[in-house]
Amino acid sequence: MHLYFVFSRKILTKEKLSPVIDFMKIEAPAIAKKAKAGQFVVIRVDEKGERIPLTLADWDSREGTITLVAMQIGTSTYKLSNLKTGEHILNLVGPLGLPSEIENYGTIVCIAGGVGVAPVYPVAKALKQAGNKIITIMGARNKDLLFWEDRLRSVSNELIVTTDDGSYARKGVVTEPLKEILERDKQIKRVIAIGPAIMMKFCSLTTKPFGVPTVVSLNSIMVDGTGMCGCCRVSIADSTKFVCVDGPEFDGHNVDWDLLLKRQLSYCDEEKRSLDLWKSCHCHSA
Ligand SMILES: Cc1cc2nc3c(=O)[nH]c(=O)nc-3n(C[C@H](O)[C@H](O)[C@H](O)COP(=O)(O)OP(=O)(O)OC[C@H]3O[C@@H](n4cnc5c(N)ncnc54)[C@H](O)[C@@H]3O)c2cc1C
Ligand code: FES
Repeated sequence: MHLYFVFSRKILTKEKLSPVIDFMKIEAPAIAKKAKAGQFVVIRVDEKGERIPLTLADWDSREGTITLVAMQIGTSTYKLSNLKTGEHILNLVGPLGLPSEIENYGTIVCIAGGVGVAPVYPVAKALKQAGNKIITIMGARNKDLLFWEDRLRSVSNELIVTTDDGSYARKGVVTEPLKEILERDKQIKRVIAIGPAIMMKFCSLTTKPFGVPTVVSLNSIMVDGTGMCGCCRVSIADSTKFVCVDGPEFDGHNVDWDLLLKRQLSYCDEEKRSLDLWKSCHCHSA
């Protein structure tokens, strides 16, 4: 495995994709050269920062850059959002995780929920390049949280957009068009769902009666990202796996979703205290 640990990486471009979602293009030539769809990096924003995983949403090996998209959810992602173009991330390591399996399967449904649009984009792009027909469903709670519709459209033969509250495009959740597609088209060979765990769980439950293989990218809490700490432990078909080295992609029909959802909440109180403390010290920017 070629893994690069790099110090003090410059943010070349930073933009807001929505009030709570940031786009960052970062100088990281060694990682850009090795990156494959489905992989991620672990970053540390500053010397007191936690290590957090973020998917390689895009990369350019000639330019030597990688693109990360992060949703502000807790202390580290708020800190990251506070950085500006020209400033530096303390360190990042990657590319981590197993790449997505890219083959010519036929017709594939890609589902992107919330910030899951960022990890779905490189996978859909690689699958389209491999000759697959791509039907993409992207969903968000509301219009303000939608981004990269144009990018996903550019790698899809068909794109369906949903918002939970109906503030844009079709009102409802992504499993509704998914079920309709599975009922109308018996040639769907694979479904790929990336987003909140609860969305991936319900996508997997929707596809199960149709017997369509369903790949999900699990977002367990991580620390080292290299298989040593055990923090990202999940149960797949009753066997223990580590998302950082055995995944992040797994067969959605074999995931113990209740365990994943429970473990994601392990440090909820500490995370809330940490964010409250950080906000109280950075009240102007938070
Ligand atoms: C392989 C992988 C790839 C990821 N890629 C992206 C990405 O491209 N963009 C992005 O915005 N996020 C991504 N995530 C999720 C991201 O790592 C977390 O949002 C981040 O670690 C939160 O850190 P924090 O300190 O800001 O929040 P914390 O204070 O750690 O957490 C705040 C809240 O978020 C919940 N939470 C924490 N970690 C996760 C998680 N991994 N998944 C779901 N909820 C979580 C906590 O339970 C808590 O309620 C990815 C996660 C994994 C495992
Ligand atoms: S993050 Fe430590 S084992 Fe996976």
